[in-house]
Amino acid sequence: MSETILIKNASQVVTVKGYSEKPATREEMANLSIIENGAVLLYGGKIAAVGTEEEVAAAAGGRLDGADIIDASGKIVLPGLVDPHTHLVHAGSREDEFGMRLKGATYMEIMESGGGIHATTSRTRAASAEELFFEGMKRLDSFLLHGVTTVEAKSGYGLDWETEYKQLVVSKKLNEAHAADVVSTFMGAHAVPAEFKSDPDRFIDLIIEEMLPKVAEEGLAEFNDVFCERGVFTPEQSRRLLEAGKRFGLTPKIHADEIEPYEGAELAAEVGAISADHLLKASQTGIERMAEKSVIGVLLPGTAFFLMAESANGRKMIDSGVAVALSTDCNPGSSPTVSMPLIMNLACLKMGMSPEEVITAATINAAHAIGRAGKVGSIETGKQADILIANVPNYKKLQYNYGMNHTDTVIKKGKIVVR
Ligand code: NIG
Ligand code: FE
Repeated sequence: MSETILIKNASQVVTVKGYSEKPATREEMANLSIIENGAVLLYGGKIAAVGTEEEVAAAAGGRLDGADIIDASGKIVLPGLVDPHTHLVHAGSREDEFGMRLKGATYMEIMESGGGIHATTSRTRAASAEELFFEGMKRLDSFLLHGVTTVEAKSGYGLDWETEYKQLVVSKKLNEAHAADVVSTFMGAHAVPAEFKSDPDRFIDLIIEEMLPKVAEEGLAEFNDVFCERGVFTPEQSRRLLEAGKRFGLTPKIHADEIEPYEGAELAAEVGAISADHLLKASQTGIERMAEKSVIGVLLPGTAFFLMAESANGRKMIDSGVAVALSTDCNPGSSPTVSMPLIMNLACLKMGMSPEEVITAATINAAHAIGRAGKVGSIETGKQADILIANVPNYKKLQYNYGMNHTDTVIKKGKIVVR
């Protein structure tokens, strides 16, 4: 494989340029920057030029000799998709609970009776690091096949240091071993473990005093996340944990207002979280505060779909000035999928987002939500050569065909990884 790749004849190159400094909001989210009959030159793992074929040829100079040529006639070129919220590293699956939910049991009832996150915690505690790594590699392969080149990964199925550590080390190894980039988040506060059921505050103390320092010391994660939800962690406990994480250099994220309104969006604004995720039940005040404080709304319409709940109001958030990103929430309980293309369909159909907004949300805004917008999420000179070629003649068709995977070719750091 050559160091140089020229993608040419693309019916559209969707660059999503111009938002690397600051996430796109409102009209910006609908402004994709499209080059008709475009070309992209990749060199040394980076984007070397983008424009019309003549422009790119002029910029290429002698570098085109021996280049790999990809003819993208009838296809579109996009930035590799970014998934900013997953529970990538876990053991087992929960189709038994799916059956129970189909008969009327709720997600929280199942969790309160010892299933749900607790069930996956038992399986993950029992699994070896090798097993978790092997499963993670397969899942990442599947992400790549759906055009996703960067994936955030949370711990949170240990709820004890030994297993949280195992998950974070596996995430780190996955990042090294797999073509996809993996960005780690510590989520020790994903559920109250049975051992601490009668005193959840003590579990928060344990995370703050014993786990956060080790996560920071070993550089195991960049973000600190919490499931702020009635019956899990209160806003007070969440605030304490996220503020403590900040002192260790970990940027806050929150699972906010997923099942019930609980002022999670407000808390995200208060602590200066990089993102608040879920937001199905976020209040108008919470949405306004997020917009004021530039907290990104990471929306997970697949989770709402799979939990048979009403989706977050993406339309209202965008209209209120919130920068919205999209994610699969890939996890064994509330969203067992890796399909960003399906999430993008659902964002249009269930949240009133336009195809343009959806692409911005799944690329540059998603990159912002994990602190990677300087590197990925748009097709701009100097950025990492992470590219998705989709087998559709225009970007609108990507949203119009639902439940389909139009991924044709995926390039990661200048290497063809799916073809
Ligand atoms: O984002 N809400 C909490 N955490 C995950 C679900 C995890 C699980 O059920 O295993 C979520 O929905
Ligand atoms: Fe989640």
